[in-house]
Amino acid sequence: MNHSFDLLIDSYLEHKVGIDTAFISQRLSNGLQQNIKQLQKDELMKTAGIGNDTIKDAQQKTRGDKIYWLDKTHDNSFEQEFLSLVDDFVGQLNSTCYTGINSYEFHYAVYEEGSFYKRHKDQFRNDDNRKYSLISYLNNNWLEEDGGQLLVYQQENTQRIMPQSQTAVFFKSNEMEHEVVKANRERMSITGWLKQV
Ligand code: OGA
Ligand code: MN
Repeated sequence: MNHSFDLLIDSYLEHKVGIDTAFISQRLSNGLQQNIKQLQKDELMKTAGIGNDTIKDAQQKTRGDKIYWLDKTHDNSFEQEFLSLVDDFVGQLNSTCYTGINSYEFHYAVYEEGSFYKRHKDQFRNDDNRKYSLISYLNNNWLEEDGGQLLVYQQENTQRIMPQSQTAVFFKSNEMEHEVVKANRERMSITGWLKQV
């Protein structure tokens, strides 16, 4: 392992929201962004939902992103590199914080211009396997006026995070309410959950 996750873990422990502005390299970020562009061309990025149009419509009032799940069996070097980084991160998290994470799931996400995700928690319905949320952004030169910031609500203050390439955010899925502000340009990320199953 040649990557230290101390920054992400320490800021999580101190502020309940971990932020590392250099979690992935610019090279990996660009590669993953290219993957999303290809998935869009191949029409594989799909509205999150369960295939029921009524439910999808209702959901789109809450969230407007399109997603595609990563998988270790995909023959793609950037995807493999990202997931092996996650393996290393989970290893360090388990050994320093005794978190007992033994599974995870990650998807690519695209917010087209005008899309948002209203205030929510990631552990909803009956899915209490999701212990931690980890989001990696893939957007170069993100500007304030581009919107699309992640707001993480806490009692005293609200954190406001720019979805800038290389930045990762990490927090407890059952605790932290958060929202994605309307994006004024296309916004790409990989979002996932570390799980105990
Ligand atoms: C989510 C989510 C935040 C972001 O997908 O559940 O809250 O910044 N994403 O993309
Ligand atoms: Mn969320």
